[in-house]
Amino acid sequence: MERNVRNKETDKLNIRDLQELLNDMSLEEKIGQMVQITGGSFENDGLITGPEKKNGLGASEIRLAGSVIGSSGADKLKRIQQEYMENHPHRIPLLFMSDVINGYRTIFPIPLAQGSSFDPEMSGRAARVAAKEASVSGLHLTFSPMADLVNDARWGRVMESTGEDPWLNSQFAGAMVEGYQGKDAQFGKNQIAACVKHFAAYGAPLAGREYNTVELSERTLRDAYLPSYQAAVDAGVSMVMTSFNTLNRIPASGNKQLMRQILRDEMGFEGVVISDWGAIEELIPHGVAEDGKEAARLAVDAGVDIDMCTASYAHNLKKLVEDKVVSEDLIDEAVMRILKLKNQLGLFENPYRDADALDEKECILCEAHRLEARKFAGETFVLLKNENVLPLKNKEEKTAFIGPQVYNHEIIGSWSIFGRAKDTVSIADALKKRVPGAVLAEGSAFADGRPGTGVMAARAELHKEDAEAERLLQDAKRIAAEVDTVVLALGEHQAFSGEAKSRADISVPDCQMRLFREVQAVNPNVVVVLFTGRPLDIREISQKAKAILVVWQPGTEGGNAVVDALYGDVNPSGKLAMSFPYCVGQVPVFYNEMRTGRPYGLAEEAYSSTYLDIPNKPLYPFGFGLSYTSFDISPVELDGAVMGKDGEIRASVRVKNTGNAKGKEVLQLYIRDHVAKAARPVRELKAIRKVELNAGEEKIVTFSITQQMLKYIGQDMRYAVDQGKFSVYIGNSSDTQNERVFEVV
Ligand code: GLC
Repeated sequence: MERNVRNKETDKLNIRDLQELLNDMSLEEKIGQMVQITGGSFENDGLITGPEKKNGLGASEIRLAGSVIGSSGADKLKRIQQEYMENHPHRIPLLFMSDVINGYRTIFPIPLAQGSSFDPEMSGRAARVAAKEASVSGLHLTFSPMADLVNDARWGRVMESTGEDPWLNSQFAGAMVEGYQGKDAQFGKNQIAACVKHFAAYGAPLAGREYNTVELSERTLRDAYLPSYQAAVDAGVSMVMTSFNTLNRIPASGNKQLMRQILRDEMGFEGVVISDWGAIEELIPHGVAEDGKEAARLAVDAGVDIDMCTASYAHNLKKLVEDKVVSEDLIDEAVMRILKLKNQLGLFENPYRDADALDEKECILCEAHRLEARKFAGETFVLLKNENVLPLKNKEEKTAFIGPQVYNHEIIGSWSIFGRAKDTVSIADALKKRVPGAVLAEGSAFADGRPGTGVMAARAELHKEDAEAERLLQDAKRIAAEVDTVVLALGEHQAFSGEAKSRADISVPDCQMRLFREVQAVNPNVVVVLFTGRPLDIREISQKAKAILVVWQPGTEGGNAVVDALYGDVNPSGKLAMSFPYCVGQVPVFYNEMRTGRPYGLAEEAYSSTYLDIPNKPLYPFGFGLSYTSFDISPVELDGAVMGKDGEIRASVRVKNTGNAKGKEVLQLYIRDHVAKAARPVRELKAIRKVELNAGEEKIVTFSITQQMLKYIGQDMRYAVDQGKFSVYIGNSSDTQNERVFEVV
């Protein structure tokens, strides 16, 4: 096919060229574009991030496949691309995609940590760095942002989400898409396409069990779960990934109402839909498809354009079209979307895009990127408790650093598939430079049970033999007795969270709790630095520790960032993006719950919505986080008490740094609709402002309350704004009582 005159301004093929190309392609070629294979088909080290089954793709099907998952490296991908195109009938370039979730090689904090920074703009910057490193390594697209709302700490992938709030998740999803793609998907230099996932509501599996059924009312789906995907679509996201779960008992990858009516017709998404790994073939075990042929039919009919890592499309679509069960128009529609994405990325002009081995050497893990990662990590830490033991005094006090996380380099989260522990700075590494005389000890294993048994049997090194465990403990107690302060670095190893890592017990492993109890008994001056991929049951730690700093999985520069915070170079300003439950029995627990007809505290206690044995409130609520300084927030001032149609009201507070250290406070504005056509959350986050103030400094912060903030899914399943009373709260946590009432007329 002759290369037609290109569209000069964009230097890309215009739609006529693509249509001609499509018309020129055989049915096999078209179907090939809808097939995604692992890098293992071209090299021996493609990363596997799903169940690796022999999918029986033959050489001819591999030769026509349209995209590759899980490979990277400038020279490698250039070689694969060149060989592939030489053998392709129309020299259509491959799309190289992979999971760059919180960084490529310079790893940033896990997304749940990023959410706790309450700073979407920083996530956008982190995404830009990730895109730069991924693009010079030959990648064209990342399967990020993961925009699933979560509120069940048992689910392992809460680590990959930005938390329990629809509005906050929307801010992060939009910022990440722009960080990867540039504004309006301009795909400039070192920018890559983004894929929002997992559509839809994958974060609400029954009982927090991975891949389990999702049962949501349509109103909850639209009010709470869809907004973050919508924000990604509005930011121009290039791709949407289907989720493993069912919605309304129909698996997402075969759910036409979800994928066509909601995602495309209502939400306006025009890009490519890709299945999650194997999700088309999984329509069979879901029990909605008899065989691969039926699975392929359901998926292509639902508008799934690419089959990730199975042969469902490759082995069935041709026959379905020949037998007139599936119209070739459906194939053409899917392939045109794929060709458009390749064209938008300029791959027809330059199939290698930004792949460049020299750039790779220069920018990957460069000092500037490390600095960004270190700075961001410091913004994500949440100080839950501090009885004047933090920040540590550099010289005057003797401090010991004890615990399995002290020497741990695996603090980059389980979705950092290109990240390497050897590039990571542990607490021990950071102390070597910062506090050469610091006393360190391992203290305990990560996980209970002997090597080969227990929670993480597969990772023998996470366990300890009894004798070794005893020696570590005695060593730790001896050291604790000789110092002023003990920093205990505890919590989940990164292998405890992520995909297929649901936990019914969300406590800190017993071996670590024994270390905590016995050290605390010897020296009560204990600071706990908590590494985790999820909220944990930390009741006992919260009672006995003098301070608690949640550092999540902080990334490549994690050790440096932790030491920065412990010694006060960084004043923690993070706020929980996900509530810490009182205990696992309270889960799912989230701040934006409904009141019920017998709200606890209003109705007669015996007949109110509560438990016999635990409180309703979480241990630490969404939006909560302390600082090394203190802030005073004045009562809310409104510039009016009545809002007319399309009007707005301005709400202001004066915030003052009343302590003696510079610090940041996150002002959070919540709205409550007093009476609506459907039950409404007790409050909903609608705006934030992170302000930095010197000691003694004060500032007036003003928010604009608009009707956009008041809308919800009304009786007819459409957005509505009620007349009547609303409350506005402004504070530094979701449990603020700093309230004013206004009315919409
Ligand atoms: C996995 C995950 C998905 C990821 C994909 C490719 O199963 O569910 O988030 O992007 O496979 O690795």
